[in-house]
Amino acid sequence: MTCSFVSFLSASMALAESKPNLSHLQVSELVKRLFDLTPSQIHPLPSYDDQNFRLVVSEDNEYVLKVMNSEDSQNPTLLELQSHAMTFLHKKGLPAQTVLPTTSGQVMSLEDIDCGFGVQKYLVRLLTYLPGTTIAKVPCSPQILYEAGKMAAKMDTVLQEMEHPQLHVLQREKFIWSLSNIPLLEPYLHVMDGDPVQQVVKSVIQLYKTCVQPKLGSFRKCINHGDFNDHNILVQPDDSTGYKISGILDFGDMSSGYYVFELAIAIMYMMMENPTPLDVARDVLAGWESVIPLNEAERDALYLLVLCRFCQSLVVARHTVMQHPENKDYLMITTKAGISHLCRLWELGKEVVERRWFQNAAQYPGKEWPNVLQAQEV
Ligand SMILES: Nc1ncnc2c1ncn2[C@@H]1O[C@H](COP(=O)(O)OP(=O)(O)O)[C@@H](O)[C@H]1O
Ligand SMILES: [Mg+2]
Repeated sequence: MTCSFVSFLSASMALAESKPNLSHLQVSELVKRLFDLTPSQIHPLPSYDDQNFRLVVSEDNEYVLKVMNSEDSQNPTLLELQSHAMTFLHKKGLPAQTVLPTTSGQVMSLEDIDCGFGVQKYLVRLLTYLPGTTIAKVPCSPQILYEAGKMAAKMDTVLQEMEHPQLHVLQREKFIWSLSNIPLLEPYLHVMDGDPVQQVVKSVIQLYKTCVQPKLGSFRKCINHGDFNDHNILVQPDDSTGYKISGILDFGDMSSGYYVFELAIAIMYMMMENPTPLDVARDVLAGWESVIPLNEAERDALYLLVLCRFCQSLVVARHTVMQHPENKDYLMITTKAGISHLCRLWELGKEVVERRWFQNAAQYPGKEWPNVLQAQEV
């Protein structure tokens, strides 16, 4: 899940008290009781709002145990839909994790656990462990970016076929991370008082209202994963093409949206740590368009939507620093690159950036990749 969403919404409840903090002993007891498993190793995995573990049961039998923070644990329907989406993607041949039911056949279990600040209720799930390493850990070549764009587009086309009686829950109308909700950032802009970047953020929001919001009706709707970032995508070496995507993780930010939102989110995160960030969109876009070419309105909004995602990330991080100053160092480091990319894109302006993104995509060096890849569809 995108870092700090819980803390953003629940200033009244300290993050430290919502985030689970199970000991390894508690994990062993829990997985024995719920899944009848006895892991030989328990390794913590990173998480900002929840608690995740890699459980090694035997050499080729590994799982991810996810313990959801107590705030989000109050919404089991959303979690059930996320698990449903993962299973659906997996069935359709995409590399998503699947859920292992408890011994009584449930896809998740609401557990009373005391993590040191009184008994609270936490939703617990066990997922498959996928092979590979996060994209964040490998040098991001044009080929990987192409693959990421292609996978994001495929994922969204497949999610469009998904059926579920509670799909309306994905509307998430006031969801701060939805690119439909950029104006919701306005009440929080004071977190940037005194920072010259505040003016850029204000201008981006204004442009969103005048140029993007009236055009939403021209964008094609779909269900967005919503957090296609470099820690949520796993890759594995692949002999013929370099790397292939071996995992799409973390459906915590899934919501109803538009295809172009997913693309903008993917481009923004792939730019973040890239040494030549202005070329990232060319590669991601080429991969994306090998599956679903953008229509004119979507293409015209892409630049601003990428800027909007940078703004969301920046405002939420700054807000979180104010609520939880103990995380300041971590959050300030992660926002630094974002600020620099936001300002650079803003200063260059839409026309110049689009020329670089779109013209270069048209003369794309990897145009032969689609044929190579078609032969080995996931
Ligand atoms: N199946 C898996 N295979 C490999 N690494 C994983 C797997 N699941 C989780 N991880 C690692 O744990 C991290 C957090 O998992 P994720 O599902 O994204 O949780 P969160 O919602 O807390 O971000 C990932 O960024 C990745 O590094
Ligand atoms: Mg994640």
